[in-house]
Amino acid sequence: MNISVISTAQQAQDIDFGGKIAVVIDVLRATSVITTALSNGAREVVPVKTIEEAQSLYAQLEPTMTLRGGERHALKIEGFDFGNSPLEYTKERVGGKTVILTTTNGTNAINNVKGADDVILVCFRNAEAVVDYVLERLSHRDSHDVAIVCAGTEGRFSLDDGLCAGLLIDLLQQKAEVELDDLGILVHHYYHENKANLLAALSGCFHLKRLISLGFESDVRFCLETNCASAVPVFADGRLVLENK
Ligand code: MLT
Repeated sequence: MNISVISTAQQAQDIDFGGKIAVVIDVLRATSVITTALSNGAREVVPVKTIEEAQSLYAQLEPTMTLRGGERHALKIEGFDFGNSPLEYTKERVGGKTVILTTTNGTNAINNVKGADDVILVCFRNAEAVVDYVLERLSHRDSHDVAIVCAGTEGRFSLDDGLCAGLLIDLLQQKAEVELDDLGILVHHYYHENKANLLAALSGCFHLKRLISLGFESDVRFCLETNCASAVPVFADGRLVLENK
């Protein structure tokens, strides 16, 4: 399997992912939110780039079955039901509902992946489940190319995404032959050296420090819990659902 690592949502925009499986990461916090919302029974999550798109889609859907979530500058958007904290997306609140989500980086990264055969979302929580899913999908095809797309933070590479890419590579390498590109080698090495203490490995990470300064430390800890969710969000026809649904 050939693995390439894309550093930001913006870089992804210029790439043709034809013939590849794309795995999108925004650990803090969009892909952790989406994995949690779907684990907790949300019917689907619709990722959109702008607040205007979210509002216009909301106006077309049944309001009692639809929720709006997301952030700007890491904070809840005025008039929305949720911010971007995974802890808000409980069974009681999201069960059976459509969630329209717009975030600064993560929902752009998902929508910027064009042409891929499969688009899957990963975070620390569901990494093992995603690896099994990717290997299962690859077993049915000739091309064995996987692109790991890190969302980044406002156009810059973000270490939280890189560390999770390193975990994904580590798990894939335990089960398959893997060829890495240069960024893949780097993030895998960083994960390998730091896997015993992920929080310490991210102590200098710009976005993590910002979330902690805004009072979101419990979100950070939740997002760094590893291999505790079996949900694999799959993106197709503009919406995210659990695999096989
Ligand atoms: C994003 O998608 O931009 C992030 O999830 C931002 C955040 O942590 O709120």
